[in-house]
Amino acid sequence: MGKPLKRIHLAAHFPGVNNTTVWSDPAAGSQIDFSSFVHLARTAERAKFDFLFLAEGLRLREQNGEIHDLDVVGRPDTFTVLAALAAVTDRLGLAGTINSTFNEPYEVARQFASLDHLSAGRAAWNVVTSWDEFTGENFRRGGFLQQEDRYERARQFLAAAVELFDSWQGDEIVADKQSGAFLRAPDPGRFDHRTGQFDIAGHFDVPRSPQGRPVIFQAGDSDEGREFAASAADAIFTRHGTLAAGRAFYTDVKRRLARYGRSPDELKILPGVTFVLGDTDAEAHEKAALIRRQQVSGQTAIRLLEQLWNRDLSAYDPDGPLPAVDPLPGEHTVARGRASVRMFGDPIATAAEWRALAEAKNLSIRELIIEVTGRQSFIGTPAAVAGTIDEFVQTDAADGFILVPHLTPGGLDEFADTVVPLLQERGVFRTEYEGGTLRDHLGLAHPRPAGTNARAAS
Ligand SMILES: Cc1cc2nc3c(=O)[nH]c(=O)nc-3n(C[C@H](O)[C@H](O)[C@H](O)COP(=O)(O)O)c2cc1C
Repeated sequence: MGKPLKRIHLAAHFPGVNNTTVWSDPAAGSQIDFSSFVHLARTAERAKFDFLFLAEGLRLREQNGEIHDLDVVGRPDTFTVLAALAAVTDRLGLAGTINSTFNEPYEVARQFASLDHLSAGRAAWNVVTSWDEFTGENFRRGGFLQQEDRYERARQFLAAAVELFDSWQGDEIVADKQSGAFLRAPDPGRFDHRTGQFDIAGHFDVPRSPQGRPVIFQAGDSDEGREFAASAADAIFTRHGTLAAGRAFYTDVKRRLARYGRSPDELKILPGVTFVLGDTDAEAHEKAALIRRQQVSGQTAIRLLEQLWNRDLSAYDPDGPLPAVDPLPGEHTVARGRASVRMFGDPIATAAEWRALAEAKNLSIRELIIEVTGRQSFIGTPAAVAGTIDEFVQTDAADGFILVPHLTPGGLDEFADTVVPLLQERGVFRTEYEGGTLRDHLGLAHPRPAGTNARAAS
């Protein structure tokens, strides 16, 4: 007998600020009206997805000193949105990205424990560290930290939050109306956490929540980020979405778990991907090409090129050839607050690759940018896309995917109606929610506080 089929995990990413989103499409709606969040969340829940995911942007990106208006401006506050969504959904997990560099553990632990209560065990926290001083300028008191300090703070931040979550065991409240006893013992929620970054003590004021702790996500891609995930996260949101890159990332991260006494099943790998569906594969590819042209207008192509070149290229014709000058090395002063800027490890070498590609295929700036940017996309008929997703998961390139629709809020509708039933027919995706909490959906254990006989919440 072969290996049992893996169950696929699926999530919906609300795109928000993102030039994956085609806001100019006639079918595109608001990025900030509550009705848009409700539509995407309800579609994801109707399709029995594991969770809805919100990224976080703490400063509006800039290019040449101006707000980058080709992105859709504005990501509202995570907790406010997720708490509101908890009221209009029943089973869908609610995952929010919250930074560990600029916040305080007591406040964040309170917010997540509260969200976990309000949603009956559906909260998840994507712990990010932020990479740029530019974002730090919005938080002068917290300031900005170097990479190794940010991860050290993240580790200590999460450890402090876990101490707070675990400061309630789960059986303290008896609320016995006969005897008048509310608490079993008088001192629940006590904590005392003194490390290099934090010096906090007191009583945590939110009783143990249904999941015990929110599901912990990690998204950083550096060696430190991967190690942090292996030591403390339940899931990773990654950009390694192709078959080859996905398998390499999957192997690398799962291999690290043993060092922390953890098994491979305890950390789920979930790349962010897009998709385009059609009645035939050819039609889907045609649609995908059209969408890429919508995503990358001539003006956007120049802006994206500036993110590598670190020069003002506004005088260049997007339908013309690449600049003959090289990128400016050193600190990026043109595009600020964008992850892409730091993903180009060696801008001069990347520019040389792009030039060679443009020459070989006779591509204009816009055509080249369409080709080299954009994330992994599943393109084809619903049957082809279902087959590909299944193959990626069964061959350990991922444990599932966080889908990023290009249209808000209706971009997931077709996937929910056509691809999900095919995955269900294959027996690799749930037809009903089996448990109540996000930990149940992801097949993760409910943590128990150490040294107690407390019930694990279910
Ligand atoms: C796929 C992916 C998604 C991310 N999403 C966010 C985000 O929404 N908000 C944010 O502040 N940082 C985000 N990050 C940044 C990382 O979480 C991390 O803080 C940053 O990349 C620095 O860590 P690193 O050097 O380990 O990559 C994301 C990173 C990746 C790879």
